[in-house]
Amino acid sequence: MKKRVLSGIRSTGKLHLGNYLGAVKGMIDLQNNPDYETIYMVADVHTLTTPYDIEALRQNRREIIVDYLAAGLDPEKSILFQQANVSEHLELAFYFASVTTVAKMQHLPTFKDKVKQHPDHATLALLNYPMLMAADILIYKASLVPVGLDQEPHLEATRQVARKFNQVYGTDFPEPQRFTTPGEYVPSLTGEGKMSKSVPGSYINLVDDLATIQKRIAAVPTDSGQGDLIPQSGGVAGLLTLVELIEGQEQRRQYEEQYLGAGLRYGELKKQLAQAIYDELASFREKRAEMMANPDYVDAVIVEGAKKAQAIAGATLAEVKEKIGLV
Ligand code: ADP
Ligand code: TRP
Repeated sequence: MKKRVLSGIRSTGKLHLGNYLGAVKGMIDLQNNPDYETIYMVADVHTLTTPYDIEALRQNRREIIVDYLAAGLDPEKSILFQQANVSEHLELAFYFASVTTVAKMQHLPTFKDKVKQHPDHATLALLNYPMLMAADILIYKASLVPVGLDQEPHLEATRQVARKFNQVYGTDFPEPQRFTTPGEYVPSLTGEGKMSKSVPGSYINLVDDLATIQKRIAAVPTDSGQGDLIPQSGGVAGLLTLVELIEGQEQRRQYEEQYLGAGLRYGELKKQLAQAIYDELASFREKRAEMMANPDYVDAVIVEGAKKAQAIAGATLAEVKEKIGLV
């Protein structure tokens, strides 16, 4: 039996380097490994948990599919679909909510963060976000989830509800684990926290041109370029992490040596890093343009993906309804 994999990205905007290195790269690795059956979705329903623009959602839920295809996800190898097209997820989320307490959901750091960001939008849907995510994963009985480090609390909630539901109803949901990648925590360009689309100035979009990438990297705060210890946080630490992820460990080692010795020249580091990021994304840009020029193909992928996903989700849901007494 192949191990099943599920992942998703919310359709809240353009993909950035953090999404790519932390999530999409792991999704591609697993897709290309014959030991796994991979299912990847656009978490468009999750977008409703924070304030959003209707037209932007309509566009983004399609563009994330385009981005997936551009990044190398292949509908011949993976099921690619939009969450809203498989409404079984919402139904299972409600059943999961029935064995989950309000207190537990209120204590999740992700809930508290979002309430801080949008104090007037502490909705029931936001509180139930982790149960919808658990349903996304467990409706496919997936045991591996390629996502960034920030998603670990949601995966813990998923394992807990799987355990509880199995205990109460005798279902056989797995307790899924996170699939980790070297880019599981891509630092923010501001020198503080992680790269995130909700923090202006923190990110590089995958579609950015060279001048934009240069400008964004140039803005990372630095220091004098010399010292007895390599900084472990802040802008310099972030730059070194990006160097390691994009240019490799050896390049990072050389820069560290310069920092501890004659001095590190950030101008050159930044110029080279910006170019390396731009080059890394060359095939993404090319394939994305191809996909944008071929809307019929993208539409067909969306229709096919929904059918395939629905077949699996429907079977799980039928099993669950029987176990819980609704059939
Ligand atoms: P954002 O925080 O920018 O809104 P999302 O929440 O949409 O990003 O995340 C989509 C996927 O990308 C998730 O798997 C998440 O863990 C991953 N991800 C987001 N930001 C980063 C980051 N800075 N480093 C690594 N992975 C990230
Ligand atoms: N919570 C994830 C994020 O913010 C998106 C997501 C929704 C997801 N459902 C999922 C990720 C299921 C993995 C599996 O990025």
